[in-house]
Amino acid sequence: MKILVTGKNGQLGRSIQKLISNYDHHKFTLVGREELDLSSSKSISKYFDTNPHFDVIINCAAYTAVDRAEEEEDLADQINHLAVKHLAEFANSQNAKLIHISTDYVFDGKNESLYLESDNPNPINVYGKTKLLGEKAVLEIMSNNAMVIRASWVFSEFGNNFVKTMLKLGSEKNEINVVSDQLGSPTYACDLAKAILHIILNDNFNKKSFPTEIFHFSNLGETSWSDFAKEIFKLANLNCTVTPICTDQYPTPAIRPQNTTLSKEKITSHFRLQIPSWQQSLKECLNEMI
Ligand SMILES: NC(=O)c1ccc[n+]([C@@H]2O[C@H](COP(=O)([O-])OP(=O)(O)OC[C@H]3O[C@@H](n4cnc5c(N)ncnc54)[C@H](OP(=O)(O)O)[C@@H]3O)[C@@H](O)[C@H]2O)c1
Repeated sequence: MKILVTGKNGQLGRSIQKLISNYDHHKFTLVGREELDLSSSKSISKYFDTNPHFDVIINCAAYTAVDRAEEEEDLADQINHLAVKHLAEFANSQNAKLIHISTDYVFDGKNESLYLESDNPNPINVYGKTKLLGEKAVLEIMSNNAMVIRASWVFSEFGNNFVKTMLKLGSEKNEINVVSDQLGSPTYACDLAKAILHIILNDNFNKKSFPTEIFHFSNLGETSWSDFAKEIFKLANLNCTVTPICTDQYPTPAIRPQNTTLSKEKITSHFRLQIPSWQQSLKECLNEMI
C-alpha cells in the first residue's frame, strides 16, 4: 500500500514515523507543511497533481492551538475544515481510504458519562467548531472508505503537551495550581499511532469498501488535569505539590468542555484492539523521554 501521512512533525506524525520501520512492506510518504501546506488550497492541489497515487491517507495535521484559534478562526477553518474537505475529495477521486483524526473538543462536555460516537457534538470553542466541520466534510464526501478517529488530551515525548509542561513546572516550582473540574481521557500518541497501523492491516479496513464511521480512541481510564499532573510528578519523582483549582480560577481565551471522557468500546471491539491504561502509557512515555 502507498500511504500518505500528513503532519509529520506533530506528536502523532512523529509517533507514526517512529513505528513504520516495522512496516517496510508498505510505502509511507510523510509530509509536513513544507511539502503540503494545508492552509493553502493551491498547495494542496499542486501536491496531488504531482503525487496522485495513494491507497491510504492518514491526516495527522491540524491547527491545534486551541486558545489562538479564537483569534485565528479563518486559518483554523482552512486547516481543520476546508483542507480536510479537499483531502476527502482527493481520496474519493482516487478510491483511496482516509483516516482523519479529530478531537473530543467537538463535544460541549455536559455529559455525565463516557461519550459515545453516537452522542451529539456541540463544540463550545473555535477549534472544536472547525474540527467538527472537518468531520462533517469527511462524512458528506466519503460515505465509504473513511474513518474519523476522535482522540483526546494527546501527550507524547514529542512537541509541546501537558506532560512536558508539567515536567518543566514541576522541576522549577514547589507548588502549582492545576484545574481539577475538567475530566478527560489522556491519549499517548504512540498508542494511537500503533492503533492506526494495526487498523490499516485489519481485514475490516482492507475490504474493497466499508461504510465511513466515527470512532473514539484514547488510553483506558479517565482523569482530571490535576490528577494527571499528580501522576506525572509521582512517576517522575518530582517534589511538587498540586493544588486543585476550578476552571473559573484559570481563565483561558477558549472555553474548555468540562467532561470529554470517551468510550473506547466501539474501536476496541471493531478492530480487536488492546489499549493500555493512561497510567501505564504515561510511564512508557516518561521512559522514552529519559
Ligand atoms: N494535541 C491534543 O491534545 C489533541 C487532542 C485531541 C485531538 N487531537 C487531534 O489529534 C491530531 C494530531 O494532533 P497532534 O497532537 O499530533 O498535533 P500537533 O503536535 O500540534 O501536530 C499538528 C501538526 O499539524 C501541522 N500543521 C499545522 N498547520 C499546518 C499546515 N498549514 N499545513 C500542514 N501541516 C500543518 C503542524 O506542523 P508544524 O509542525 O510545522 O507546526 C504539526 O506538525 C490532530 O487532528 C488534533 O486535532 C489532538
